Amino acid sequence: MLRVVVLVSGGGTNLQAIVDAVEKGEITHTEIVGVISNNKNAYALERAKKHGIPARCVSPKEFESRAQFNKALLEAVDGYTPDLVVLAGFLVVIPPEMIEKYQNRMINIHPSLIPSFCGTGYYGLKVHEAALERGVKVTGATVHFVDEGTDTGPILLQKAVEIRQGDTPEVLQRRVMEQAEWQILPRAIDLIANGKVTVSGGKTKMTE
Ligand code: GRF
Repeated sequence: MLRVVVLVSGGGTNLQAIVDAVEKGEITHTEIVGVISNNKNAYALERAKKHGIPARCVSPKEFESRAQFNKALLEAVDGYTPDLVVLAGFLVVIPPEMIEKYQNRMINIHPSLIPSFCGTGYYGLKVHEAALERGVKVTGATVHFVDEGTDTGPILLQKAVEIRQGDTPEVLQRRVMEQAEWQILPRAIDLIANGKVTVSGGKTKMTE
């Protein structure tokens, strides 16, 4: 059984997609053992509680230094003894010691086709604003393993989404979530839970 902890900051629609997929049996051999948010008002925490999943807030505001927050966050994650950490819209920089400890055991969902529109400053609506500004005809989402960079780890899954005439950033964000994020993040977890993913040389390999 893959023990999964999900880190969130906002509405939690990706968390909901994961929870629904586990409950429907689309993700097998997996248990979501905890949800952690840096934002006490994150609706994602409500979603977790509605499904009986332990949920808690660890906020940088509660600590005198970033180092103390980093230590508390890692302790909170470790406390669930996870096999996999999933960043689902988590907007806080992951502590280096946590990246080290969970190397190849921590994944992130990014709302573009990496390496486009990613890296420092590209998050949330900003990603879609940049795609529309550049005039690309196709965007999408990426699930990747987390390494010491920003959106630079080994890519696991990607799904393309068309951009339509007249799209606003908000309309595009929703389409990318519905057609890509909510599909590939649960699928990535199921692949990992069933031992179908290996990472070597900074790239992933799938055994179907
Ligand atoms: C999503 O757009 C995701 O791609 C990005 O942050 C947002 C999280 O949304 N990483 P939600 O909290 O899962 O609804």
